[in-house]
Amino acid sequence: MCGIFGYANYGVGQPIQAILDTLFDGLQRLEYRGYDSAGVCVDAPAGEPGARCPLVIKHQGKISDLRVRAAEVLEENTLFAGELYSTHVGIGHTRWATHGPPNATNSHPHVNGPDGEFVVVHNGIITNHATLKPFLAKNGAVFVSDTDTEVVPHLCEYLWKKRGGKVSLGQLAMEVCSRLEGAYALLIRSARYPNELVACKQGSPLVYGLKRRDPAAANGATNGDATGRDQGGAVSSASRLSASLLGAGGAGTEFWLASDSAALLTHTRDVVVLEDGDLLHVDAYGRPHVFNSLAMTSRTLAKADMADLEVKREGRKIEAEVESIMKGGYDHYMQKEIHEQPKTLADTMRGRVVLDGKPFKPVKSSAPDVIFSGHFIDPCESASLFSGSNIAAASGAEGGFELPSRIGGKKARAKEPTPAGALFSGALLGAAAAATAAPDKAAAPASAGFMEEGIPAAGESEPFIKLGGLSDHVEGILRCRRIVFIACGTSYHACLVARKTLEEFAAMPVVVELAGDFMDREAPVFRDDTCVFVSQSGETADTLRALEYAKAKGALCVGITNTVGSAISNATHCGVHLNAGFEIGVASTKAYTSQIVALTMMALLLGADSRAKMPKRIAAMRALARLPDDAREVLELDASMHKLAEQLKDAQSLIFFGRGYNFSTALEAALKVKEVALIHSEGINAGEMKHGPLALVDENLPIVVIATQDAMHRKMESVIQQLLARSAKLVILCNTGDDAMTQFEGRGCTLIRVPRTVDALQPIINIIPLQLLSYHLTTLRGFNVDQPRNLAKSVTVTED
Ligand code: AGP
Repeated sequence: MCGIFGYANYGVGQPIQAILDTLFDGLQRLEYRGYDSAGVCVDAPAGEPGARCPLVIKHQGKISDLRVRAAEVLEENTLFAGELYSTHVGIGHTRWATHGPPNATNSHPHVNGPDGEFVVVHNGIITNHATLKPFLAKNGAVFVSDTDTEVVPHLCEYLWKKRGGKVSLGQLAMEVCSRLEGAYALLIRSARYPNELVACKQGSPLVYGLKRRDPAAANGATNGDATGRDQGGAVSSASRLSASLLGAGGAGTEFWLASDSAALLTHTRDVVVLEDGDLLHVDAYGRPHVFNSLAMTSRTLAKADMADLEVKREGRKIEAEVESIMKGGYDHYMQKEIHEQPKTLADTMRGRVVLDGKPFKPVKSSAPDVIFSGHFIDPCESASLFSGSNIAAASGAEGGFELPSRIGGKKARAKEPTPAGALFSGALLGAAAAATAAPDKAAAPASAGFMEEGIPAAGESEPFIKLGGLSDHVEGILRCRRIVFIACGTSYHACLVARKTLEEFAAMPVVVELAGDFMDREAPVFRDDTCVFVSQSGETADTLRALEYAKAKGALCVGITNTVGSAISNATHCGVHLNAGFEIGVASTKAYTSQIVALTMMALLLGADSRAKMPKRIAAMRALARLPDDAREVLELDASMHKLAEQLKDAQSLIFFGRGYNFSTALEAALKVKEVALIHSEGINAGEMKHGPLALVDENLPIVVIATQDAMHRKMESVIQQLLARSAKLVILCNTGDDAMTQFEGRGCTLIRVPRTVDALQPIINIIPLQLLSYHLTTLRGFNVDQPRNLAKSVTVTED
């Protein structure tokens, strides 16, 4: 949803066009979040030498439209010509309409009045805006928009006046925040505080990075004068210091701030992820200070000394390559992300699937990273990627997390402190985790089952799963009353697969909940529940609310997310990162398949104690290792899926039937088709067919039946027969070499043949051609693939 981008330069001469380009490029990197209007605020020359005034440019529509509008403004105002901005603060925003329709007035930035003393961009929702508005109006504020955000600049002005102007911008913003309820990431700039910038975060994501140029080389431009008047020295990029100086700042420094680190990647890899309650204040000389006021009330805050609230925030390195945010030769992000899956699946497993048994033969070699012989190279073990410190602080505040335990049939509780380093990382796992996850070799006599093909014989080491982010919690999870998976959309579908996997491999009771519905019902949660929150973005508001709720009830909260430093990865007690790289297309594709892999690994880890299930487990681990190759093979269906899309593109409706593991495939395929191709589509459990949906079947309605050779194969064959008896028009997704399906070819059915894998992983292989189908349907129908209408990538608001 809304995106924020800010750029501030201190003693680094920039023409206004370069500043605007930086803002627009940054906003364009956030386009994927979904938006319907955009705006920026920069300084305009105000006539007098050195004088500046805020210039706000807003537009409904795309950023490309905003660029055109800005070019017109620059052309109209001759004072911009030749002007070099040594020091300057620019802010920008993409808005996804919630309060008021998408139009220029409702777009951000918002100001407190025509002189723009305070200018604000905001991501999130100010839930008490309806209370603040009449109060501020009574005190002279004139509101022009329908937004909740507009109360913020007015509140700034009100409190500034109340304090007689004798307050720093940091202190003022902190007082403002203490009066706001809801979720926000805010950037505030002010004509009353030239060249200063404030960024505050509560509930919505905000990151910043900075880079310092060589002050000597920055020449006359290094004065960082508070008036911001150029001293005459633009600095060539060659003079940049490559080393990041997070926390330093000062003359020669540039700052970039954004809702997402992907937007900073082309500028710097060193970022600080702000935490809830954080306020970054960059003074007029480019010196950054981070304060946190979480423990303060508006009353105590008024008397607080800012110095006491200052906190240190560690910088992190963004590990991703710049290419990861580019389309890399593909026409669309969705297309690229579908085709990336052989790699992203391998990345999710890297260092986590340990295969060392002799009978095990590495597959092809195209996925060498997954196949290990006892040594682990885990990119996710880079400590800087994880938020151990954040979590440690949170769990410390709770005085240690109470783990549920089931001892002697009774539900008992054990106090278990949560060590920072071992939290929520695929990382930081040593022998301890291996010992937890690996079956106990000493206590593992060869049973009849072990003689099966592929099972290591005595003396050969067994494959195992290693998830550092869960290692300290395996015992606790195993003792819990039940596992509750909570998610939305595609992530929910991944949970449906996980339910069956957990039941199959760990014999655990599992419940799957849609986060919104879960909260609507205020469903019961117990202290001895384990709640698993699955979210690609890690920022989905419904999932986050459910997390807060479950945490308050005392459940163990596990996060499965693709976004390091996200709200969900920070707020959960432990978890697994997907390591699938930035997913930019609104339609989730590679994150879905990586979610299934991560959840399968979790199930295998939790089931590691069952000797009876060992053959099955080993088969699954071997299949995991083959998965990138299987995905590569299934991607060869691209041209066939294009052909099929040509046949189906004018369909009014498209039905997907699946059951067992592939009920989820049916739901997910239908979601893909409806969200990007804009065709009505339904995923139906084939077991329900006779209870209603069969009435829809005729010779016109295209139906895709997922009938791969898993435990449901025979039942699905019967479904096909029943559908054909009603003259249905079928597309059958089945396995290569499944002769039972060949008969249907002669009966007018189209067959999609995919490689066979174990039942638990078949949904990963099965969804890929259907992702391709929805992609091609979309392009053939001429719709926007990456930003489908009305949708946002991260749904950071709820209906509350
Ligand atoms: C998937 O294609 C969707 N765009 C959407 O359903 C998404 O999965 C859902 O909003 C949940 O997002 P999350 O995984 O980031 O929490």
